[in-house]
Amino acid sequence: MATPQHRLQHRLQERIEARIRENLLGLVDSKQWNIYRGQFVNAVQESAGKLLGVPCLTTNAGSSAIELALRAHGIGPGDDVVLPSSTFVATAQAVLLTGARPVLCDVDDTTFNPEPEHVRAALTPATRAVLFVHSFGNPSGAGRVAAFCAEQGLLLLEDAAQALGGRLGGRPVGSLGDGAAFSFNTSKPISCGDGGMFAAADPQVYETAKAIRHAGLREVPDGRFLAHEIGGKLLLTEFQAAVLEPQFTAFEELAQVRTDTALRLRERLPWSRRTPGCSTSTTTRSAPGSGSRSPWTAPPAPSRPWPNTPGWSASTQRRWSTSP
Ligand SMILES: Cc1ncc(COP(=O)(O)O)c(C=O)c1O
Repeated sequence: MATPQHRLQHRLQERIEARIRENLLGLVDSKQWNIYRGQFVNAVQESAGKLLGVPCLTTNAGSSAIELALRAHGIGPGDDVVLPSSTFVATAQAVLLTGARPVLCDVDDTTFNPEPEHVRAALTPATRAVLFVHSFGNPSGAGRVAAFCAEQGLLLLEDAAQALGGRLGGRPVGSLGDGAAFSFNTSKPISCGDGGMFAAADPQVYETAKAIRHAGLREVPDGRFLAHEIGGKLLLTEFQAAVLEPQFTAFEELAQVRTDTALRLRERLPWSRRTPGCSTSTTTRSAPGSGSRSPWTAPPAPSRPWPNTPGWSASTQRRWSTSP
């Protein structure tokens, strides 16, 4: 049965899809679909910049955005990059593509994110950066790792592929370190099939990333574009941006739908409350640089994993309560 929540979500989805249709048809008619930085790419970068408070560059994938974050900081052969052992394989592959060495660290077993002690255990004399993954969109631990990186003189790069719209200590995910990567692939908070985005506050890093994103080209004073470094073709097209644009415009509403759904799931699945940072109320507790553990404490674990969950049938209860 459709709940008021479902109906709201459906109406929002329909409104977004109508805008996507309008954007795509308008784009074809305008004959502007084959330019590199057209109105939709610009609109997406602008909306994303406002959301994060950091300048953004769209890319063709989240994986390319991670590689861009590393290469824009000059990470390459001879460097080690610490990243969590629990992530999508693209995180480690982006490091390998730069010629640097990925060094895996352990993660906290409730958040799946690393804590400073895990990063410390993975450090080598060649460590230059930590690539923090906000697992399942949860930034828990990022503030403590940011403080640790600052203390150790290491770069902190965020793999925020799954975390657009997340906040920690009131600060948007993607603005917590020296650079961040987001994904717009099919399983992410907003999507255009495939796509990504790089964010960095430092203007030099931003300009380097912009050049690497497009064949290493930089504009020189006489208006020509010259290739000063080796780059790739990592651009998002106008078609993809035309699909993303309405989702950015409606981002607050989309995020609210997700938050409401998460809160309803948390009510009905008591065991989910064991994960620190798993809701909007807990993610705001550990501010970047606070250096100390979040005051959040887990409630005692149930004796059986999912006992008597309201609304579940007896057979569902049995199936889940006996699974490993
Ligand atoms: C944690 C993480 N890192 C990197 C990526 C790679 O992003 P993309 O698939 O857009 O290249 C993903 C997405 O699948 C991811 O979940």
